[in-house]
Amino acid sequence: MFSAFEKDSNKKINNINSNAFRGKTIICIGANAGIGLAMCDHVAQSGVKRLVMGCRSMDKGEAARSEIKERCPDLVVDLWQIDLSSLNSVRSFGQRWTEQAEDARTIDTLFLNAGLISPNTASSSSADGLEMTYACNVIGHLALISHLLPCLNSTDSRIIFTGSGAYMFTSLPSRPPPNKRTPLRDSWNVYGYVINAFAIYADSKLLLNVVVKELQQRLADKHIWVGVYHPGAVNTTITDKAHYGVSWLITYPFTYIMSYFGRTPAEGAAPGLHLASEPKENLPGGAYWNEYAQIELVKQAEDAELRKRYFDRCVEDARVDPAVFVA
Ligand SMILES: NC(=O)c1ccc[n+]([C@@H]2O[C@H](COP(=O)([O-])OP(=O)(O)OC[C@H]3O[C@@H](n4cnc5c(N)ncnc54)[C@H](OP(=O)(O)O)[C@@H]3O)[C@@H](O)[C@H]2O)c1
Repeated sequence: MFSAFEKDSNKKINNINSNAFRGKTIICIGANAGIGLAMCDHVAQSGVKRLVMGCRSMDKGEAARSEIKERCPDLVVDLWQIDLSSLNSVRSFGQRWTEQAEDARTIDTLFLNAGLISPNTASSSSADGLEMTYACNVIGHLALISHLLPCLNSTDSRIIFTGSGAYMFTSLPSRPPPNKRTPLRDSWNVYGYVINAFAIYADSKLLLNVVVKELQQRLADKHIWVGVYHPGAVNTTITDKAHYGVSWLITYPFTYIMSYFGRTPAEGAAPGLHLASEPKENLPGGAYWNEYAQIELVKQAEDAELRKRYFDRCVEDARVDPAVFVA
């Protein structure tokens, strides 16, 4: 079990304090595959009180839940539907959570792991008319936080985003452009394919770093810890989805290379699990952590004015009452 974590290599994270998960309530969004599933697997075997897997596909989610239940038959593992590309779906998840009995509502760790690259024109708009990658990788998560905020009230509540080192390939204009679909690059559609899908993905992950920094400042009074980490290059299903269709011509070579050289999902999950289990006092909040769980300075996230502009735009697009995030 967890052999990946036990390898003694300075390139891998092997200090996960699994005891820290004991008795906790953990939600993982994007839990049915890849890094999210590996995170769930780890915490499930570490004595959590309750694990909630947020998945957009109930079929895939049920298969993942069964896998975990097989190993941990006595654990409460809930499967809840959530599609980050729909603010209605996100709101339903939030409402369902807050309508539970009071003693079931408190969240210790919220893993916001779901993310996508959207290479097809057919899937380049969210249910709310936003550019899809922006909607799923940033806006859905922010909207979800706004709904769950009152429940992130344990003594050790943490919000941990799965980001990406791809952020370093891009930069944001100093002001969000006025495009109503996205403040990032919009999709360039050629014969049904989004040819700049990776560039939009990189934009979304840079924006995530900016949002995380601002969120941490605004949530500091509530004693909620926020961070974002890069899992490394990981062999997962991210570029291997049935609905990507013929764009496999682009994604197949990436998937093939990853199958040989990528980290395993368990290795990719390790920095996130480290951030979730290390005492908060040892972890500066609002930072971007690389795949070795070391902090990297993200220049644009340090720019307070740029940060506020983009955060306000995201709050607007997530249809969140700005008062929710007033520090
Ligand atoms: N793999 C890498 O090398 C790598 C590198 C850097 C960062 N990351 C980040 O790591 C995170 C996990 O990705 P992964 O590599 O493990 O890929 P993955 O296997 O595709 O997992 C992504 C998860 O997000 C879910 N998801 C996608 N769109 C969603 C939506 N609209 N609503 C709800 N859930 C949605 C997926 O559900 P479905 O199965 O239904 O699609 C899946 O469970 C992502 O944020 C990704 O950007 C990955």
